[in-house]
Amino acid sequence: MKKIAMFALAASVLCGCAPKESDTVKMITEATFPPYEFLRGKEIAGIDVEICRAVAQKLGKKFQCETVDFDSVIPAVISGKADLAAAGITVTEDRKKNVDFSDPYVKTGIVVVYKKSNPFKDRDQLKGKKIGVQSGTTSETFVTDELKQEPDRSKSPAEAVAALKAGRVEFVIADIDPAKNCVKGEEELAISDFITSEEYAVAIKKGRPELLKAINETIAEIKADGRLEKWVKEFTEEADKLKEK
Ligand code: ARG
Repeated sequence: MKKIAMFALAASVLCGCAPKESDTVKMITEATFPPYEFLRGKEIAGIDVEICRAVAQKLGKKFQCETVDFDSVIPAVISGKADLAAAGITVTEDRKKNVDFSDPYVKTGIVVVYKKSNPFKDRDQLKGKKIGVQSGTTSETFVTDELKQEPDRSKSPAEAVAALKAGRVEFVIADIDPAKNCVKGEEELAISDFITSEEYAVAIKKGRPELLKAINETIAEIKADGRLEKWVKEFTEEADKLKEK
């Protein structure tokens, strides 16, 4: 008995999971993705932040949010560094192998951003072209898996669009909302219709059913009482204004 207790203690210390019940819900995101997450000065703001804040409220806990590169968002919940990964994360079969997803909170997809002087007409046109994407995203896997070629990887959708403006890539592929924000006020740029159909959800470490339940209840509530719709409108307006500056 004693041996088992000692072992359990040693194991919990070693794996760093000793204090199971924290008083804070930690969100991890990548804040270059308006209106879902963007920087308002030094503060991280956006729809995903409000969703996660509402989850923390439901659990009666404090709330914290941190931004990292998009490639590091899902690994942060797997390692236990954060509780909630919310970053306009598309539910994919591949990701489902590593994390649990909440119910989806938005239906969306990716689009092609192009110069009006070089209009995008159809998928075939993308073959063999230099295409900019944000690293680690479904836009990247669209290029590698569907088009079977190597994309030009950037840290953010805005950085990819800057490369398009500068003529370093011919097209950019990105999620529709950040893409719309990027082309705001840019007369020479336009976006296509959806080229995929995707859904965003919150990702958490596997095997946390209580947390998953709280997230799903929160999502149902904010959809039903109009908060989600209000955030979409407000943060789209705020992010567009920030872009104009
Ligand atoms: N929806 C896309 C994906 O899951 C892009 C998400 C990028 N999000 C971000 N915050 N940068 O791959």
